[in-house]
Amino acid sequence: MFRIPGSRAPFFVLAALVLGASAVVSVADDSADAVKLRIGKGDPVLGREIAVTELCQECHALDGNSTAPATPKLAGQYSQYLIKQLADLKKGARKHQTMNIIAASLDDADAADVAAYFASLKKMKGDAPRNLPKARALFENGDPARGVPSCVSCHGPDGKGLVVGTTFNPVIGGQQHTYLRGQLASWKLGERSNSADGVMNRFVQPLSDAEIDELAEYISGL
Ligand code: HEC
Ligand code: HEC
Repeated sequence: MFRIPGSRAPFFVLAALVLGASAVVSVADDSADAVKLRIGKGDPVLGREIAVTELCQECHALDGNSTAPATPKLAGQYSQYLIKQLADLKKGARKHQTMNIIAASLDDADAADVAAYFASLKKMKGDAPRNLPKARALFENGDPARGVPSCVSCHGPDGKGLVVGTTFNPVIGGQQHTYLRGQLASWKLGERSNSADGVMNRFVQPLSDAEIDELAEYISGL
């Protein structure tokens, strides 16, 4: 079931070797296999009911493409990533007043189902790529001199998400601009610290606020 799209395969195999992973899967598309992988074990039909009754759709929209700038899109996001975030929010390992309360009201089965529902939707997309060459270079190549890795190496081409071994690196391409900027700033300040081994805190640390602004704007357009 692991698929590696032809033309990009050498890049991903290389990324796998660098990251010491055994399997790397790009799930940039909405093919049946890709959608099945990102839905995981939950039931998207039950999940849709939860999205309605628990009011997730009021903020995140029923098609998963929230229109509020600080509210993340969930459309086509990996259920595995969403379940981890809901668990982290539930136990307070990730802090957000409203979402801490909402996540605490979901049991594990509900979380898996609602995550499966949002994962089953067509993947989020930005309205247009922005012409920001510096941000694009940082996104694609990182800045090795400052210890900033390429974002694409984990988040996949155009930030559309990438499975590396057992890690589901989230979709960030096409995510809400204000939300992205907020998360990058939180990683930098250490207010959000729930990535494994603090990787995201380390990667964002060297970036200036202006670079974070531009990166968020660039990524949101993808
Ligand atoms: C009142 C508005 C509101 C409601 C209702 C709401 N959310 Fe959220 N949700 C947010 C906001 C705002 C954030 C961003 C939190 C942050 O900035 O860290 C968020 C974040 C999330 C995240 C993290 C996404 C990511 O990319 O890391 C998940 C998962 C999530 N919500 C799921 C849900 C589910 C499932 C429901 C329903 C059970 C729900 N939310 C209901 C506003 C809401
Ligand atoms: C080694 C792999 C890796 C690299 C390189 C990487 N990331 Fe991440 N990133 C992750 C993982 C894993 C998560 C999810 C962490 C968690 O569990 O909360 C994440 C989360 C994020 C999030 C939060 C997404 C959301 O919906 O809340 C943003 C934004 C982000 N990364 C941006 C970037 C940017 C920009 C770069 C390049 C400067 C980058 N990442 C480089 C692995 C990586």
